[in-house]
Amino acid sequence: MTPDGLAVKKLVVVGVGLIGSSLAAALKAANACTEVIGVDRRTATIKTALGLGVIDRGVQALAELGDELGSGDVVFVAVPTLSVEVVLQQCCEHLSSEVTITDGASVKGSVAEAARRIYGELPPQLVLGHPIAGSEKSGVAAVNPDLYRDHRIILTPESLTDPLHIERVERMWSAVGGLVMKMPIALHDDILASTSHLPHAIAFSLVDTLAHDSENEDIFKYAAGGFRDFTRIASSDPVMWHDIMRANRASVLEAIDLFSANLNRLRRAIASDDSEYMLGVFTRAKEARDHFTRLINKQAFVPKMQNREVTFELQPGGQVKGKIRVPGDKSMSHRSIMLGSLATGVTEVDGFLEGEDALATLQAFRDMGVVIEGPNNGKVKIHGVGLYGLQKPAGPLYVGNSGTSMRLLAGILAGQSFDSVLIGDESLSQRPMNRVVKPLQLMGASITAGGDKGLPPVVIQGGAKLTGLHYELPMASAQVKSCLLLAGLYANGSTTIVEPAPTRDHTERMLRGFGYQVKSEGNTASLVSGGQLLSAKIDVPADISSAAFFLVAASITPGSDLTLTHVGMNPTRIGVINILREMGAHIEITDEAVVGGEPVANLHVKYAPLHGIEIPEDQVPLAIDEFPVLFIAASCAKGRTVLRGAEELRVKESDRIQVMVDGLVALGISATPTPDGAIIEGGTLGGGVVESHGDHRIAMAFSVASLRATAPIKILNCANVATSFPNFGELATQVGMQLAHS
Ligand code: S3P
Repeated sequence: MTPDGLAVKKLVVVGVGLIGSSLAAALKAANACTEVIGVDRRTATIKTALGLGVIDRGVQALAELGDELGSGDVVFVAVPTLSVEVVLQQCCEHLSSEVTITDGASVKGSVAEAARRIYGELPPQLVLGHPIAGSEKSGVAAVNPDLYRDHRIILTPESLTDPLHIERVERMWSAVGGLVMKMPIALHDDILASTSHLPHAIAFSLVDTLAHDSENEDIFKYAAGGFRDFTRIASSDPVMWHDIMRANRASVLEAIDLFSANLNRLRRAIASDDSEYMLGVFTRAKEARDHFTRLINKQAFVPKMQNREVTFELQPGGQVKGKIRVPGDKSMSHRSIMLGSLATGVTEVDGFLEGEDALATLQAFRDMGVVIEGPNNGKVKIHGVGLYGLQKPAGPLYVGNSGTSMRLLAGILAGQSFDSVLIGDESLSQRPMNRVVKPLQLMGASITAGGDKGLPPVVIQGGAKLTGLHYELPMASAQVKSCLLLAGLYANGSTTIVEPAPTRDHTERMLRGFGYQVKSEGNTASLVSGGQLLSAKIDVPADISSAAFFLVAASITPGSDLTLTHVGMNPTRIGVINILREMGAHIEITDEAVVGGEPVANLHVKYAPLHGIEIPEDQVPLAIDEFPVLFIAASCAKGRTVLRGAEELRVKESDRIQVMVDGLVALGISATPTPDGAIIEGGTLGGGVVESHGDHRIAMAFSVASLRATAPIKILNCANVATSFPNFGELATQVGMQLAHS
């Protein structure tokens, strides 16, 4: 801060246009400077700026300010890019090295070169910057003091730049609501060439093309939404854009070339009526644009998704009544995209879970060239490319929080001819991948992950010749089994997996649904390569793992009466029902049916007094995802519940044994962790703050606890609920839980 607590002392704006005057007006409005001086050759501009109260004083050249500027003062150069050099020349001649100089030009490389020409090297007082804000309007009359609020301001300091000057510029932008970030000059110029300069070049060119087409004289009369929306930026300041294109020539040319090649390819597809190519471009673009729209929220750059802070606040008590259908099964949704992509023909999926995990799988296959329409209200259409039709992705495949995506994809990718890399978010980057990496290596795959545990990224070299494997799983894991079976599709001979205990068998069932033979006998599943997958129709039932939160909610809440419809009842998934029933729960199973090879039913649940039990170990793999909420049931039960043989819980999205025990203890329950489970004494749930560690199921489990709590419960870090159950909050409120989120 300057001695009097201001962000800057005097602000000198050179070039009183939209960009300069908006900073001036914003700093004045924030009372963050002592005086604003405008420098502009055009006297009329100075007059207007004075009239609008944007500046306190105006001069026509920097020289007129003599040596009145010093430490704490900031000169903001806001002239068109190619005019910055002239202004920097004046700065060099008239400003002491104490004065901070910064700019707002859209290209940073050319400004840095100009500064080097003038000063010999980049002067420490010069902090190059670029506010990612603007408008097609220009000039002081368009001044907008809110122009920079919540917008990214990119600074590109070099090693010579003085940290004191950088800090001053950062404070200045923060004072007007800007979000400051830093990046290297070359990266800035490349990014802006694609995200800003290319769209402007296209918009100018398109409008010019139409305007000059004599046959299209009346075109603007009939040009409606599309034209208007797409070409708004062609009203921008011509000189400014002329300068930008010249200043960033190399990067802009690269961006134009890439775009021209893609446009030409689209032209060929239109000419040859290549529907699949067209749909591919349009669906990928729509998805990307929708994602961007959700993200931008009026900002040009936004923090990464995983930085979202969501807190659940629950009032104690409430009821659980009604009839609901929870979203589609996560495991089946992943597999529907994978097998649909590897099949020949078009696969139609209904009931697809539009949660972030399954969407990550969907995006990964789009990144490998598969055309996927939707999801649209749970409907997805996958234009399968066959077992050998995937294409090399342009970069690493990012699968967010999703262990299932990473492990199953590892199996598929091990069999491809191209190299690939799988990466995930912070939580997934801590989860063990050796469980799939090691057996895949035994099959001949060229695959590695980091350190002893084999942490992501998972790096796969294509072209390996895989051989079928007879493998005894060291742990009961459907993900490992599925990964190896999928790799088996590409391996010579047969692949046989023996499990220590039965785990979910959706991969086997769905492969059969796609016409691929899989043998299941006892704890062994095997397949032989050489077949092919044929497209199928898939109806994804409601996810029993999501239903589990409501099964427990209704079981622990006096007066409850809840029906959950169309729930997947695969025998390898119903451990939660078996365990709850053993604890005394009242769960009726009605309307049983089989849909596409998977059993479904309605579940009718009423309150019943629960009692503690020793959870049968054979039920653990069948309820592996449901323990967080079963711990809540145990804390409301009479007596002690003991869980053993569940060490796998320690390597889920969080260490679910420790995190659940910590949360229960915070709410006043006596709970003790053991290496492979926990001992929970039923008691009275109090209120308090619980940390979910970004684990969706922990967040939802403690939400359920509120129904029996004596005081409010606050649950931190709940954004990842969207990975498996995006409308959990809505359904919870609908049945009578008192959940608010911020
Ligand atoms: C899943 C298998 C389980 C489960 C996960 C989904 C699957 O993991 O916890 O949520 O879809 O195959 P493990 O197989 O690692 O136990």
